[in-house]
Amino acid sequence: MKLILGIFLISFNAWLIADSTLDGAKLTQQYCSECHGKDGNSQKENIPKIAGFSSILLFDILDQFKNGDRPSPKTTINNKTTDMTEVSKLLTQDQIETISLYLSTQTFKPTTQPFNQALAGIGKQLHQDLCKDCHGDNGKSAVDDAPILAGQWKQYLKQQFENLSSHKRYMPKRMKRKFKKLNDKDKQALIEFYASPKIQLKY
Ligand code: HEC
Ligand code: HEC
Repeated sequence: MKLILGIFLISFNAWLIADSTLDGAKLTQQYCSECHGKDGNSQKENIPKIAGFSSILLFDILDQFKNGDRPSPKTTINNKTTDMTEVSKLLTQDQIETISLYLSTQTFKPTTQPFNQALAGIGKQLHQDLCKDCHGDNGKSAVDDAPILAGQWKQYLKQQFENLSSHKRYMPKRMKRKFKKLNDKDKQALIEFYASPKIQLKY
């Protein structure tokens, strides 16, 4: 019995040591923060905020980049040029899991950006009718493993609406059914709405 307990304790210690090398904050600092900020709240308009997304969604998106299933534009930062596919290939599955868990515990900080009020009002209605089920009330929630949209960078969202419209990016079947009902003006209205998170509840 003692022997079994001993073996158990040794392997438990080994597990703890192995696990301490998987530090989410440190890994994020090392691999992600130059672009996404140390807590996942990117300060750059072409780079998404990813704080507070569910760990399942983050893990899944990193897998899509790793496999080349999602467009991966190059970014130059501090004289280095790289992209999400290259970055995710540097990481093991365990590291990706650890980073995803860490970022999911951070708080998404929405940014209010210049927006067109009349269009934003139309966008709010469209969102509540078609998109709320998964993206939450006013696009503020990540509970259904869908990205937070309210207060995301407008420039980034514009690019994603284009990628989704031209089928360059994966979307769930149920989202596809709703998304294809949108015309160009509807899409612009939704983007304007997501850019207005601080005041959007007043409509
Ligand atoms: C060199 C800059 C750079 C680095 C480093 C970087 N990213 Fe990114 N990331 C981007 C850009 C740019 C995009 C937007 C790609 C696009 O336009 O589709 C992005 C997109 C993402 C997305 C998609 C978010 C969404 O809303 O769909 C996730 C998740 C993500 N990155 C996670 C990470 C993680 C985790 C790390 C560290 C392991 C990391 N990124 C490192 C530049 C970077
Ligand atoms: C069935 C649930 C569901 C519905 C309904 C839905 N979405 Fe999504 N949406 C998702 C998921 C999940 C993703 C992430 C897909 C991925 O990259 O793996 C996503 C991604 C997105 C993105 C990309 C965001 C980013 O951070 O890159 C946008 C924009 C978006 N949805 C807009 C909409 C709009 C507008 C509607 C309504 C017309 C809508 N969605 C309806 C689940 C849904």
